[in-house]
Amino acid sequence: MTFDKTILITGGAGFIGSHVVRRFVHQYPNYKIVNLDNLTYAGNLENIKDIELYPNYAFERADITDLEQIYALFEQHKFDGVIHLAAESHVDRSISDPLIFIKTNVLGTATLLDAARRFWKDDYEGKLFYHVSTDEVYGSLGDEGLFLETTPYDPRSPYSASKASSDHLVRAYHHTYKLPVVLSNCSNNYGPYQFPEKLLPLFINNIRNNKALPVYGEGINVRDWLYVEDHAGAIDSIFHKGKLGETYNIGGHNEWRNIDLIKELCRQMDEKLGREAGSSEQLITFVKDRAGHDMRYAIDATKVQEELGWKPSLQFKEGLSKTIDWYLSNQEWLDNVTSGAYQKYYEKQYAVTA
Ligand code: NAD
Ligand code: DAU
Repeated sequence: MTFDKTILITGGAGFIGSHVVRRFVHQYPNYKIVNLDNLTYAGNLENIKDIELYPNYAFERADITDLEQIYALFEQHKFDGVIHLAAESHVDRSISDPLIFIKTNVLGTATLLDAARRFWKDDYEGKLFYHVSTDEVYGSLGDEGLFLETTPYDPRSPYSASKASSDHLVRAYHHTYKLPVVLSNCSNNYGPYQFPEKLLPLFINNIRNNKALPVYGEGINVRDWLYVEDHAGAIDSIFHKGKLGETYNIGGHNEWRNIDLIKELCRQMDEKLGREAGSSEQLITFVKDRAGHDMRYAIDATKVQEELGWKPSLQFKEGLSKTIDWYLSNQEWLDNVTSGAYQKYYEKQYAVTA
């Protein structure tokens, strides 16, 4: 079988990557999609089981920090494009164990960039390196304002600092070697297949099991939430229509204070589980704040909207309802990923409430 292009997607066994892989495999039968992931605790082949037998899909287990291994895969598959999502992604883990974030997010991104540069050897026609990043690189907002693509970087956690470093490396390779790159910085994603260390799946799982809901600090921090399939749609638009060397901010125009979001989640969960109204809210427990907890993130997504015609498709309450339904009907998935090592992480992270 011949294909028009071969695209390497890194981190495709993780949360967002699995949606991107699924979208590309379905939408572009003329592309060969190679999903590269080393299956850390956050990577799970169950997340993409539905597409594993498609003729335009292949999986490679590899570590993005291993240049020899990565370069060999470039030689084997002759990638035309890279969509790079593989990362350590959880802020709390970056606080307790920062060095793996530096290794994976900084060295891993540098390794992929260098493999692409060496393999493409200045012949960049039809080539693209797309780096997927986060709004956290911009730091923390007060009550007013939005992050623009021109907002100066001000990362404040080991996670966001490692992502900021990776963004700088991508731009440096563009500037120095003319590597054709594009970047995007997105707000908080939610939806199916998110590892239940992150707020929404964690709290859905805890409500299901009648466990405490550990709200950091006073619950007044604000996040801008975007349904994961909308993020995958934005990545598709930027990969195909984004201008080389440019950055696009992606967000949901959907800011929620944590406590308000959690109360809405509790309300919907009570309805869906047939519990008395107000019963899930009783599980809310205020716990010690996250160290250096960023107060507010909010994205101005005008550029991607005006230049590339992308905008979020889903209203938040509808997206939240779909998300809860998915977790409730995929309890086996939840039970599988929360067994074993996750229990140890949970006990350590939530020592007070566990
Ligand atoms: P995730 O933690 O769910 O998945 C990360 C994936 O990367 C996993 O499958 C893991 O196995 C893989 N991986 C980790 N280290 C690797 C290595 N050394 N080699 C190969 N694979 C490795 O993450 P996510 O939430 O899906 O985030 C994906 C990307 O999107 C990240 O770059 C993240 O910074 C960015 N992002 C996430 C969000 C969000 O809300 N989750 C928002 C904006 C940007
Ligand atoms: O903004 C994009 C970022 O969003 C991504 O780059 C990260 O990969 C992703 O993890 C996410 O980071 P956050 O730190 O915002 O997400 P998290 O789900 O960990 O937390 C969301 C908010 O909820 C945050 O203010 C902390 C709070 N929280 C989180 C957990 C896990 C709690 O109050 N209690 C918790 O137990």
